[in-house]
Amino acid sequence: MLAISKSPAMMCAVTHFALDGPMELSQQDQWKKQAGDAAAMLVEDGMIVGLGTGSTARFAIAAIGRRVAEEGLRILGIPTSDRTAEQARNEKIPLTTFAEHTQIDLTLDGADEILPGPLYLIKGHGGALLREKIVASASKRMAVVADDTKLVTRLGERVSVPVEVVPFGWQVTARRLAELGGKPTLRLGADQKPYITDGGHYILNCAFGAMDDPKETAHHLDHVVGLIEHGLFLKVATEAYIAGQDGVKVLKKEK
Ligand code: A5P
Repeated sequence: MLAISKSPAMMCAVTHFALDGPMELSQQDQWKKQAGDAAAMLVEDGMIVGLGTGSTARFAIAAIGRRVAEEGLRILGIPTSDRTAEQARNEKIPLTTFAEHTQIDLTLDGADEILPGPLYLIKGHGGALLREKIVASASKRMAVVADDTKLVTRLGERVSVPVEVVPFGWQVTARRLAELGGKPTLRLGADQKPYITDGGHYILNCAFGAMDDPKETAHHLDHVVGLIEHGLFLKVATEAYIAGQDGVKVLKKEK
């Protein structure tokens, strides 16, 4: 682990200027911002940049937006969700699509769990896992941004694995996931109706518990009919910017 910054003001509230005025950041949000700010410094002129989704990625995108405005940084972003696209447009970050660029230089995205060492991830509790995985898979480099509450010793020990499924016959897909030990539950929106992803699909949260072999679980999930993509991201992250009490640390993927 390489410590790249310390934060002496860690215990103080930090004022963050949102679109609708200043707001106080909680301790965890301060860490998310520190991780996002640090990782945004990886972005270089001329890059195609994958823009992640979630509360931590949001800070990274805001930091990129500031660099575009203040340094004249010239990049093109590919967003992982409609809400990230909206934020990027608000931040005046120019966007592109896979129709123009099929390879991404660097993606910055959050995670729900991070296993140090191989940098295996669980992602998707923000509901954007399919586009996130397409973007991550098309990236030469993916830097995860997170606070240190996301670090685990076994993947699945704290959160379920979200899987994106076709609405047609989702009950059949759920039964197969239950047979695999996933205890699936259908994700609902605030209106108590099924949550619909940007791609028009449902999400089943699968509680596998702490996994001894996430690769084996991923292999089983890869073969479930009706399942479009799952939230086990096992081969995509190259580094992670993790913020906590002692500042921001960089974890590199170990071979
Ligand atoms: C979005 O679908 C997710 O993969 C997020 O990246 C993940 O849930 C982490 O989000 P937070 O940064 O909000 O914790």
